Amino acid sequence: MSTVLVLNSSASGAASVSRQLVERAVADLRAQDPGLRVVTRDLGANPIPHLTLESATALRGADPVNQEQAAAQALSNELISELKAADVIVIGAPMYNFGIPSTLKAWFDYVLRAGLTFRYTEAGPEGLVTGKRAIVVESRGGLYSEGPAQTMDAQEPHLRTMLGFIGISDVSFVRAERLAFGPEIRDQAIDGAKAEIERLTGTALAVAA
Ligand SMILES: Cc1cc2nc3c(=O)[nH]c(=O)nc-3n(C[C@H](O)[C@H](O)[C@H](O)COP(=O)(O)O)c2cc1C
Repeated sequence: MSTVLVLNSSASGAASVSRQLVERAVADLRAQDPGLRVVTRDLGANPIPHLTLESATALRGADPVNQEQAAAQALSNELISELKAADVIVIGAPMYNFGIPSTLKAWFDYVLRAGLTFRYTEAGPEGLVTGKRAIVVESRGGLYSEGPAQTMDAQEPHLRTMLGFIGISDVSFVRAERLAFGPEIRDQAIDGAKAEIERLTGTALAVAA
């Protein structure tokens, strides 16, 4: 039995394209493994708090000296446990102002922790979350995978860096782009993303096993 960690980060509820595509990916994975265990964090609906002086101090390794620090460490430990228990991570990542939603960034702020998900060695930083496969669904109003706006994409490189930094280098990006270019182009983009998801999920569990 495999475990999938699902992270949604759209603020748009049921209207979210990335959420719909993430659901499709989970359904495809479940079709292969009816006993699939799915752990979901809807960061858009239930955001993780942004860092404060107390939480940032606690997440950088200090022993908690008050309740806020203890709560931040406990939440971080829980999120890291969910990540480490997963075989496959499916992330719904809308583009907001050329990057990822701050709610998704907050999840990474709680999960990238020295000694737990990465460590520094004499050869440089080393990711400690290995043996995972990630599928990232990116929804975007515009076109960034080619053309003049390519250099404005601060979403995909940032996600690739953060995942790679903790050891998740087997990452597939599914892009639903040009969603704001009219209904026909939008439908084509969503259909194309669904086809890509079907292709990727066909091997995701086998690779993770
Ligand atoms: C606050 C906000 C900022 C956005 N910024 C961008 C952007 O910089 N570039 C872009 O192409 N689309 C942008 N969009 C459009 C979204 O990427 C697009 O609507 C996408 O479908 C959002 O994903 P979702 O449907 O899963 O919520 C923005 C949307 C919102 C709500």
